[in-house]
Amino acid sequence: MSDVDDKITSLLSEKRLFEPPLEGREAAVVGSLQSYEESYRRSMEDPEGYWAQRANELVSWFQPWHTVLDADLYQPEVRWFDGATLNVSYNCLDRHLKNGKRDKLAIIWQGEPEEEVRTFTYGELYEQVCRCANVLKKMGVRKGDRVSVYLPMIPELAITLLACTRIGAIHSVVFAGFSAMSLQNRIQDCEAKVLVTADAVLRAGKVIPLKPNADEALEQCDSIEQCLVVRRAGLTVRMQSGRDSWWHEAMAADGISPTCEPEPMDAEDTLFILYTSGSTGKPKGVVHTTGGYLTYALHTTQWVFDLRDEDIHWCTADIGWITGHTYILYGPLGLGKTSVMFEGVPTYPGPDRFWQLVEKFRVTIFYTAPTVIRALMRYGDQPLRGKDLSSLRILGSVGEPINPEAWMWYHLHVGGGRLPIVDTWWQTETGGIMISPLPYATPLKPGSATRPLPGVDAAILNEEGKPAQPNEGGHLVIRRPWPGMLRGVFGDPERYRTTYFEGFPGFYDAGDGARCDEDGYFWIMGRLDDVINVSGHRLGTAEIESALVSHPHVSEAAVVGMPHPIKGQAVYAFVTLNAGVEETTELLAELRVHVRTEIGPIASPDVIQYAPGLPKTRSGKIMRRILRKIAADDFSDFGDISTLADPGVVDDLIKGKEASG
Ligand code: PRX
Repeated sequence: MSDVDDKITSLLSEKRLFEPPLEGREAAVVGSLQSYEESYRRSMEDPEGYWAQRANELVSWFQPWHTVLDADLYQPEVRWFDGATLNVSYNCLDRHLKNGKRDKLAIIWQGEPEEEVRTFTYGELYEQVCRCANVLKKMGVRKGDRVSVYLPMIPELAITLLACTRIGAIHSVVFAGFSAMSLQNRIQDCEAKVLVTADAVLRAGKVIPLKPNADEALEQCDSIEQCLVVRRAGLTVRMQSGRDSWWHEAMAADGISPTCEPEPMDAEDTLFILYTSGSTGKPKGVVHTTGGYLTYALHTTQWVFDLRDEDIHWCTADIGWITGHTYILYGPLGLGKTSVMFEGVPTYPGPDRFWQLVEKFRVTIFYTAPTVIRALMRYGDQPLRGKDLSSLRILGSVGEPINPEAWMWYHLHVGGGRLPIVDTWWQTETGGIMISPLPYATPLKPGSATRPLPGVDAAILNEEGKPAQPNEGGHLVIRRPWPGMLRGVFGDPERYRTTYFEGFPGFYDAGDGARCDEDGYFWIMGRLDDVINVSGHRLGTAEIESALVSHPHVSEAAVVGMPHPIKGQAVYAFVTLNAGVEETTELLAELRVHVRTEIGPIASPDVIQYAPGLPKTRSGKIMRRILRKIAADDFSDFGDISTLADPGVVDDLIKGKEASG
């Protein structure tokens, strides 16, 4: 774990402590460290009692459960709230209407063009969701069917997801920046019946066609019967008769009622599937279920963001990722609060876009990623000048470790030196935040996600599976089930077991390296598997490698992460060409385009280096440790390379790198 140790050394020197603000404590859900500690203790002493109480406080159930928890992490088999029934859209909509919130704003949507704002009260959203649910039903979607959703950040995305939950269909969102091929793989894997997509995506002033990607993907997707298309940009698109229909026509069609009974779902019925990268070439369909996920989403939203009725909550993620699922949609709407949804990017038309929107909507809770902070830091404080950010109350960070410099900039320039930053550690698999400060209770150390939330039994284990000493780096595991945990990898129970429960039997293995200091604060160091984190997006190196070798000129490829000042990590690819193929700069460009087409722009390598040979052991395993060092320009100590089949390749690679500049 030498990379991890290096990082530990630099973070260990971080000694600053920031006390939570006094102002606002009285009204906070958790207003003191003592009250956090009491809840934590109770949740460990009586987890079932704790979660039963939270589930009752936060969620409206149609039928109560007979068993709070039935779990065996060795199998693994986990069931929460067995016997209970509920409906997620009922919890996000109907019950708020009954509680006098019909006219409260549920969603404030800001399109990329400044003048395009659409708002939805709970009453309006309810009607749209019911209509969409009826449209899906008319298309033949039934409880348990999968619906793939390939949409930009427009209100129809939120409406579609809630509509799926209303009728018990399982949604699977595919980030609109993914390629046709990625979409196709995901649709094929979950055998979706319907695809919801749009004509185009608006991004940084450009109109990027989306429907052609969907068409290409659908050429090989036999399971898809119908495709619903939202008109976002007014592009002319090909509509395949019998398969494709327009959203605006379908929603307004005769007989589409503005009401729809919510389907009672079992607590353990699947709510959604969301694909994420792992250490093999094939993304995993992470399965979340209804009762546990919703309870956990509401619990964490309420605690970590201290969400109140008057709050305007803005999570800048895309709903294509888990952060958007939980903290744009289900958490805030389940609690009956107001959520901002933004279509654009942080730097268009200028680097003040976020701050201008904070001012415009009087945002109170602002949740973003370290990569965004680092990108905006480059512009200094000029874009912030003259902006009224006085509405802000809490800042959040997610997706990757936040370096202390970025933390300080965020705290000082955005938070005026007074706002708490909640650095939230979690994963697609965990459903919601696991380790995080509570804004009015936890003293902060920049760069640390601080302490686990109640109910989260987090620990660091060393290679032998024993608890690590304070400050000793190791594997981050969770030692008991929590309601929001994944319940499977879609269609692949074996992969579910081996990925998360084999490394440390009886525990959930997060795949992250971390350490815990003498105060019980967790410091996350990054992935320990072959997954890299580029701008907060998880990419499997194996996925990029298989995209590269699918190019006719490539015989072999090895991809590693390299440190990057803004993205956190960048993609560095070593590529061996087929015999007789010339190493040209044109081919490098072509390979980049190839990865974009195969996976999507986020996976496009930042650097590709031609490698006549790769450092392999005699058994043929690539020693990535060596490649990571070369990518990071660290040619000092390669450790033991005597097991390499041909140690000479290391020098060749260094020379190749130096030669290419
Ligand atoms: O390595 C951790 C990193 O992001 C991974 C999870 O990625 P994903 O499933 O895409 O979900 C991202 C948003 C929840 C983790 O295994 N990560 C996430 N949050 C943090 C983090 N690393 C350090 N600090 C964080 N706050």
